Amino acid sequence: MRMYDLIAKKKHGEILTDEEIAYMIGGYVKGEIADYQMSAMLMAIWFKGMTDHEITKMTEIMAESGDMIDLSPIEGKKVDKHSTGGVGDKTTLIVAPIVAACGGKVAKMSGRGLGHTGGTVDKLEAIPGYRTVLSREEFFNTVKKCGASLIGQSGNLAPADKKLYALRDVTATVDSIPLIASSIMSKKLAAGSDCILLDVKTGSGAFMKTLDDSIKLAQTMVAIGEGAGRRTVALITDMDTPLGCGIGNSIEVAESMDVLKGVGPVDLTEVSLQLAANMLYLVGKGTLEECRAMAEKSITDGSAFENFCTMVKEQGGDDSVLRDTKKFSQAPYVHEVKADRDGFITHMDAEKIGITSVILGAGRETKESDIDFSAGLIIHKKYGEAVSKGDSLVTLYTSRQDKLPDAEKLYREAVEIGATEPKKVPLIFARVEKDSVEKF
Ligand code: URA
Repeated sequence: MRMYDLIAKKKHGEILTDEEIAYMIGGYVKGEIADYQMSAMLMAIWFKGMTDHEITKMTEIMAESGDMIDLSPIEGKKVDKHSTGGVGDKTTLIVAPIVAACGGKVAKMSGRGLGHTGGTVDKLEAIPGYRTVLSREEFFNTVKKCGASLIGQSGNLAPADKKLYALRDVTATVDSIPLIASSIMSKKLAAGSDCILLDVKTGSGAFMKTLDDSIKLAQTMVAIGEGAGRRTVALITDMDTPLGCGIGNSIEVAESMDVLKGVGPVDLTEVSLQLAANMLYLVGKGTLEECRAMAEKSITDGSAFENFCTMVKEQGGDDSVLRDTKKFSQAPYVHEVKADRDGFITHMDAEKIGITSVILGAGRETKESDIDFSAGLIIHKKYGEAVSKGDSLVTLYTSRQDKLPDAEKLYREAVEIGATEPKKVPLIFARVEKDSVEKF
C-alpha cells in the first residue's frame, strides 16, 4: 500500500477501506508517513468528506492508538461529558458534582485551554493544592468515594489524535466534521465511560458557526458513540455569547460555586441543569423530567456543593476557597469598562471576549506561557440587556497593568450597543439522540 495512492483516492472523493485507514493512521503514528503526505490527506478529507463508516473506523483506530481505560473496577454506569469548546464554559465543574450527588459516576479526564477557549484542567489548578495528575488507583478510589473525579488527560490517551490535531492546527483543517468528530470521539472511547453526553457549541465563539453544521457534527458523534456501544446524546448549546459572566480561571471556579450554591447566573445554571439531567438520564436514573428535578434538588439541598468540596479535598485541594471565594488570590489591577452611550447589547463576539481574557493573562499566548489564575473578566451587561451611558459593561482583572488598554479596546470591539432590543436567542437549540433531532 502507498500513501500516495490513498491521497489520490480521497482527492477524487472515493471511499477508503478499513485496511487503508488503518495503514494511514498507524503509519502516521509510527512516523512512517510524513507530515506533508498526511497534510495532503487532511486537506482532501476537508474537501471531500468521509462516509459514516469511514469516520467510525478512523475513530476506533485513533482510540486504540494508545491506552484504552478500563473503568469496570468502578461499580455502576459511568458517564462522561464533552464540550466542543467555548468561552466561559465551566459546566464540567458544576455538572460533575451534581451527577455524583444524584448517584451517577463521573470519571473524567479534561484538557487545557486551547486558543481563545478555556480548559477545565487550568480552572481546577486555580484551586490551591488541587492535583490534576493522579495515579490510576487514586483516580478510581476518588470516583468510588466521591462519585466523581476530575483530572487531566493521561499522556497516552489517543496519541494519534494528539499528533493529528497539532498538524490540523497548522494546515487550516480543524473545522471539518469528520476530523472534529473522530478527534473528540477517539478520546471519549479511550476514556472508557459507558455513556457520553456531548455539548456541541454553536455560534461566534464555537468551531461550528451555524446550527445546521452543529447538528450534523452532533449526529456524526452520536452515531460513532452508539456504534461503539456507548449510550450517547448531544445538546446543541449557544456559544454566540459567553456562558455565565466570569471568564478566567479562579473567576470561573468562583462562579461555578455560585451556581452550586443556587446563586449563579441564570444562563449558566440552566445549561448546567440540562446537561446534568441528560447525564443522569443516560445512566438510567429516570425520565428527563425526573432527572432534572433531582439535579435541581442537589443544588437546593447543598449536596452538589458539598460533593465538590469533598472531591477537591480528596485530590489535595483547599476547599476553604470554595466556601469563601474571596479567599482566592486577587488580581492587583482592576479596571471597569463603561458604556459610552444608551441602548441595548445587540451583539457579543464570544471569540474576541475569549481573546480579551487571554490578553489579561487568563490563557496561554504560546504553549509555554504561564497562566495567571486571578486574571480575567466579569461581564455586567450581557446580550439583550439595556444599558445607560456610564454603566459598567465589564470589570477586567490582571497582574499586568500594561495589558489593560489593549484588553479594553478589544472588549469594546466585541460588544455592540444598538438602539433597539434584539430578539431573544435560546440557550439550547436542539437535542440529538441516535434516531432523533428535537429542535427547541
Ligand atoms: N476538540 C477536540 O478535541 N478536537 C477537535 O477537533 C475540536 C475540538
